[in-house]
Amino acid sequence: MKLNIGVIKGDGIGPEIVAEAMKVLNKTGQVYGHEMNYTQILMGGASIDAHGIPLTDEAVSQARASDAVLMGSIGGDAKTSPWYKLEPSRRPEAGLLKIRKALNLFANLRPAVLYDELKGACPLKEEITQGGFDMMIMRELTGGLYFGERSTEEADGILTARDTLTYNEEEIRRIAKRGFDIAMKRRKKVTSVDKANVLDSSRLWRKIVEEVAAEYPGVELEHMLVDNCAMQLVKDPGQFDVILTENMFGDILSDEASMVTGSIGMLASASLNESRFGLYEPSGGSAPDIAGKGIANPIATILSAAMMLKFSFDLDKEAEAIEKAVGQVLKDGYRTIDIMSDGKTQIGTREMGDKICAYIS
Ligand code: IPM
Ligand code: MG
Repeated sequence: MKLNIGVIKGDGIGPEIVAEAMKVLNKTGQVYGHEMNYTQILMGGASIDAHGIPLTDEAVSQARASDAVLMGSIGGDAKTSPWYKLEPSRRPEAGLLKIRKALNLFANLRPAVLYDELKGACPLKEEITQGGFDMMIMRELTGGLYFGERSTEEADGILTARDTLTYNEEEIRRIAKRGFDIAMKRRKKVTSVDKANVLDSSRLWRKIVEEVAAEYPGVELEHMLVDNCAMQLVKDPGQFDVILTENMFGDILSDEASMVTGSIGMLASASLNESRFGLYEPSGGSAPDIAGKGIANPIATILSAAMMLKFSFDLDKEAEAIEKAVGQVLKDGYRTIDIMSDGKTQIGTREMGDKICAYIS
């Protein structure tokens, strides 16, 4: 089949890690008989440099015209980059928020899996990780504090800033349904995370999630307060299957979950709307400190490309071939510096891409 893929290389390590994911996609296409057709799209700092804003309407149209978008990372060093002298709505991150909203990418899937081979890189004690863990964080991505009204005002010489956290039941229902659908294909357990002991928006969240749960009698639902969830993630990560939560909580918990897997450089993500369209990106950032050095870990981006094949193109076999190849290369003992440990062989970004390609046959 012919795959029309929008590509946002972005900033920092973005271009390097996306290049490896494209290499892996091309190899997969060759082996399985698919044609990869790429359209380069500018976003973030790269777009600010070219057009003065982090995402143009034309870029949104290009993304919309693609079947799926593969993204690297956006943003630079907040202290030194000129992008951060601009007002907040013109900074690189605003491009990411704009594309999420414009394409209605309300469902953010962030799988956090502990690879047997990487147990050494996991900061948790061995007795905690013995049984391994494999969870899917389902983060609502187009509502809550990120998109609520905000303002900064001064009165009588006192500055006051305000952000608002709003959810309506439709927004909660659609992400909850996605969460339960995904749980059905996994271990059939949903942990809905909220702060219902304090927030009205969380109390509504809980009510609607319970209504949705009634339609999925085969799935076990539990509610967990977000502070407790932060603790449970380091105490007993193996208890989780699907974690369903709102935008801000999901932002925080997904970074925590990624670190307990050993490295944020391993974590893929998908942001989906109601159709088959999705934006696929590594969970990590643009890491400007190591950009251009050829040492960044491309695995999260490569696994994001695998998620793209699965969710946007129904190419499960091809996606599994990529996932297997990643597992093989790790078994062979090859590591980028972020996941390096004693007795392993350290390699760079490009070599990692090459080794993974070699196992796709
Ligand atoms: C993420 C990032 C973004 C977010 C930033 C870059 C706006 O941290 O994708 O998790 O907060 O959503
Ligand atoms: Mg984040």
